[in-house]
Amino acid sequence: MPTIVFASPKGGAGKSTSAVVLATELAGRGATVAIIDADPNKPVSRWAGRPGKPETLTVVANATEDSILDQIDQAARQAAFVIVDLEGTASLMVGYAISRADLVIVPTQGSLLDATEAVKAIRLVRNMEKTAGKTIPTAVLFTRTSAAIRPRSLQAIEAEFANSGVRVLGTQMHERDAFRAIFSFGGSLSDLDRGQVGNVAAAIANARTFTAEVLSVIKSGGPAIGAAA
Ligand SMILES: Nc1ncnc2c1ncn2[C@@H]1O[C@H](COP(=O)(O)OP(=O)(O)O)[C@@H](O)[C@H]1O
Ligand SMILES: [Mg+2]
Repeated sequence: MPTIVFASPKGGAGKSTSAVVLATELAGRGATVAIIDADPNKPVSRWAGRPGKPETLTVVANATEDSILDQIDQAARQAAFVIVDLEGTASLMVGYAISRADLVIVPTQGSLLDATEAVKAIRLVRNMEKTAGKTIPTAVLFTRTSAAIRPRSLQAIEAEFANSGVRVLGTQMHERDAFRAIFSFGGSLSDLDRGQVGNVAAAIANARTFTAEVLSVIKSGGPAIGAAA
C-alpha cells in the first residue's frame, strides 16, 4: 500500500535506477510491487520488457497528467508497494504523484550543482504539502557515490541538508556496474551473471541496506521536511 515516489528535476540523478533496484528487492522478498512508469522515455517499461522481471512486480505504463492519480490509487489497492518513477521535469504530473506519496525519495549525485537541483524537488514537495494540507515525508538519497571514500565536498552537502532540516538517508547508492547492468540485461541484481558483471554481491548488499532503510523510514512516518524547517 505505501507509495514511494522518486522525484528530481535533474535527469541522471538516479531516479529510475534506484526505483528499479528498490522494486526488485521488495519483489524478491515476495511482496507485490507496482511501478508506475511516469517518464515519457519509459526507462522502467524498457527494463520490464527484458527477461527476468519478477512475477510479483507489475509495471503501469503510459502515465499521463490526467491518469496518474487514478493509476496510483488503483495500484495502491492492488499491490503491497507502489513505486513511481518520474520524469526529470517539474510538471503537474510530478506534483500530483508527490501529493499521493507516503515517502518522496530525492536522488542526487554528490556535487553541489546536483544538490541544487535536489533542493528544487524538496521545494516542490513543500508546496505540495501546503496544497494537500498534510505532511509528506521526504528524504534525499545520494547516488553514484564512491564505496571507498567519502569526500569532504559530499560531507559538506550532507551537513547543509541536515542544517535545513532535510532528512538524508544513511544509505547511499554507490557507483556500481551492477546497477547499470540490470537495465542492459533485465531482471534483478541476483539474476546477473557474476562472470560478466563485477562485484554483484556488493551491489546486492547495498540494495538490501537501502530497502531496509526505506522500510524503516516509512514505518516511522519520518519527519516531514516542512515540519523540521
Ligand atoms: N548507483 C549507480 N551506479 C552506477 N550507475 C548508476 C547508478 N545510478 C544511476 N546510474 C547511471 O546513471 C545514469 C542516470 O541514471 P538514471 O537512474 O537513469 O537517472 P534518472 O532516472 O534520474 O534520470 C544511467 O546511465 C544509470 O545507469
Ligand atoms: Mg529516469
